[in-house]
Amino acid sequence: MDLPDHDLVLVVDFGAQYAQLIARRVREARVYSEIVPHQVAVEQMRLRRPKAVILSGGPQSVYEPGAPQVDAELFTQDVPVFGICYGFQAMAMALGGDVARTGLSEFGRTLVDVQGGGGRLLADLPEQHRVWMSHGDSVAQSPPGFTTLAGTKDTAVAAFEDLDRGFAGVQWHPEVLHTEHGQRVLEHFLLEVAGCRPTWTMVNIVDEQVERIRAQVGDKRAICGLSGGVDSAVAAALVQRAIGDQLTCVFVDHGLLRKGEAEQVERDFVAATGVDLKVVEAAERFLTALSGVTEPEEKRKIIGREFIRVFETAELEVVAAAGAQGEAVEFLVQGTLYPDVVESGGGEGAATIKSHHNVGGLPDDVQFTLVEPLRALFKDEVRRVGEELGLPADIVWRQPFPGPGLGIRVIGAVDAERLAVLREADAIARSELTRAGLDREVWQMPVVLLADVHSVGVQGDGRTYGYPVVLRPVTSEDAMTADWARLPYDLLERISTRITNEVRQINRVVVDVTSKPPGTIEWE
Ligand code: XMP
Repeated sequence: MDLPDHDLVLVVDFGAQYAQLIARRVREARVYSEIVPHQVAVEQMRLRRPKAVILSGGPQSVYEPGAPQVDAELFTQDVPVFGICYGFQAMAMALGGDVARTGLSEFGRTLVDVQGGGGRLLADLPEQHRVWMSHGDSVAQSPPGFTTLAGTKDTAVAAFEDLDRGFAGVQWHPEVLHTEHGQRVLEHFLLEVAGCRPTWTMVNIVDEQVERIRAQVGDKRAICGLSGGVDSAVAAALVQRAIGDQLTCVFVDHGLLRKGEAEQVERDFVAATGVDLKVVEAAERFLTALSGVTEPEEKRKIIGREFIRVFETAELEVVAAAGAQGEAVEFLVQGTLYPDVVESGGGEGAATIKSHHNVGGLPDDVQFTLVEPLRALFKDEVRRVGEELGLPADIVWRQPFPGPGLGIRVIGAVDAERLAVLREADAIARSELTRAGLDREVWQMPVVLLADVHSVGVQGDGRTYGYPVVLRPVTSEDAMTADWARLPYDLLERISTRITNEVRQINRVVVDVTSKPPGTIEWE
């Protein structure tokens, strides 16, 4: 995406999982960044007119056959370059330094010794500090023109710079949180060595996106589906800010949301944005379609199918209502984020989609052009944009919640009674987690109802035969892997006591202590 008002930093991805993290940290330094695969030709990069290039870490040894190399052309473009880990070694090789196969590896935390004041890159850093490393080879000698800035007990050269050409690098990972002063090192490179301007702020993003959306949509109409999640809410709020009541939002209440979530959309979101909202109450329809279904993938399929049908019917009603006024709905707003763009191979993506309708008795196809105002943003940036737009904190800081909702958290067949029980237990667990101030540390805490299991309990004077619920609190960076969250015992006690006291049908609360892998986050 071209954002002419900002300096651009390209992060070249050598295949480790660190490129996205580096790009995020660059943006935290208020400099706009994008990720490019390492196969991209130098000429293509040059056409983007980057203010700097960062070579990321990678899993390989620079000596491994087929290991991605850095095209030495990159260093003749008058563009500052920063090498990290593998990128540091590849840079040293390409510029005539000496990379030794040490046979030693440094993994995890290592002490670095800053030398000679640290030059500009490591200026004002403590002489010794801890950093996170993962590498096998090491740089034995800096390339000509470079000053060595730091070493470790196993690596003669762990950091270097050449200020004349704007080149610098570190053997460690400045982007990971275990590295002390990592963000400062990145900022020194970006702001002092490369001279990037720190203009990437959320206020600027909102203003720029509002301009862009106005230019794209003009005086036409747009439609947006709200899911109750952060992304669609922020996308809708941005578009609303840009084009006001030319936007109509559609919210399908499938009856599988958590307690209070439908109201948050229908009342709080509307109050905060003034958006024109069409609500479709479809709980009955979803429950009927799900009746007796126990197989998780079957549930997902049914919920997905019904959702599309209901949404498209509503979409066509909006199109028809506009048509009656002599107006056309030409745009569909979607909350696509930057990680989705990177993972689907980047590029500007399909500009239009065809919405094929199976709803009977309605016109065939409607063609929309997509409006995706969050395509350049990471999740944490989307949240900050949401705050900037004045959205309620409950929506902006919402934890991830699956599209099929509570439908896949009732293990067994879904019905209204079971959903009501789960909804109460989930609301108690969530409110206690919030009260304990742990919302941002815990990635997600599904509450799962084992609806086909009953266990014996004793409550008051009598024996009970009730449902168990499972608490599944996890910590995670991206949901790909997760660990079970070590919640304080007194918090677990409060949740357990309140659920068994306040939800009559539940007489047992258990905690899931499985990491992912092998367990997934959800139970279905
Ligand atoms: P798992 O259970 O695979 O979940 O570890 C990883 C993340 O994805 C969410 N999830 C879903 N999200 N539709 C969604 O929109 C689904 O069918 C679905 N299944 C799991 C889950 O909540 C977690 O954040």
